Amino acid sequence: MKTTLEDTLLASIRTIPDYPKPGILFRDITTLLGNARAFRRAIDELVHPYVGLKVDKIAGIEARGFILGGAIAHQLSAGFVPIRKKGKLPHETVRVAYSLEYGLDEMEMHKDAVAPGEKVILVDDLIATGGTAEGAVKLLSQMGADIVAACFVIDLPDLGGRRKLENLGVDVRTLIA
Ligand code: PRP
Ligand code: ADE
Repeated sequence: MKTTLEDTLLASIRTIPDYPKPGILFRDITTLLGNARAFRRAIDELVHPYVGLKVDKIAGIEARGFILGGAIAHQLSAGFVPIRKKGKLPHETVRVAYSLEYGLDEMEMHKDAVAPGEKVILVDDLIATGGTAEGAVKLLSQMGADIVAACFVIDLPDLGGRRKLENLGVDVRTLIA
C-alpha cells in the first residue's frame, strides 16, 4: 500500500506529554529531521508551490524554523533571514514581544536583512497560537517585506494560529494538523 505524505509525516513526529510545561503535548520534529525520507518529503512539499515565484528571502524562526528554512532557501535559490530570540543578533535589530502556547518572549531581526519590497516566505515547524508567527510578520512588515506566504509542517488548529495569520492577510500553508 502506498503511504501518503500525511502518513509519513505523522509517523515521524514524536509527541512528548507535559513538555516544557504540564498540560502541553509537545510535537517533537527531531524524529522527522532524523528520518531522511520524511525530511526530504516535507521539504519537497513545502517548496513546490513557490517554485518559479522568484522569492528573494526565506525568513526562518529560531530554532526549528532555521533547519527547515535553510533547506527551503537552498531549493528556491533564495537568501535566508534568521529571526532570533532577543540578544543573539550582533548588528542593529528590530524587536517585538510575543506570546506562544507556553510562554512569553521577544524576538529580533537585523534591520538590513530584508529590503523594502523583497518577496519573503516565513518558515517554522509548527503553528499553535500563532503568537510567534504574528511577531515575525510584524518584524518583516516593519521592514517593508512583501510576505508571499507563511508555511509550517504542523498546524495545531484548536489553538487558532492559522486563522490569526490569515486575518493579517497572510497566505498560510501547513502539511499536517
Ligand atoms: C515553537 C515552534 C514555534 C512556536 C509556535 O518554538 O517552533 O516557533 O513554538 O508557537 P505559537 O504558535 O503558540 O506561537 P519555541 O518557542 O518552543 O522555540 P524553539 O524552536 O527554540 O524550541
Ligand atoms: N510550540 C507551541 N506549541 C507547541 C507544541 N505543542 N509542540 C511543539 N512546539 C510548540
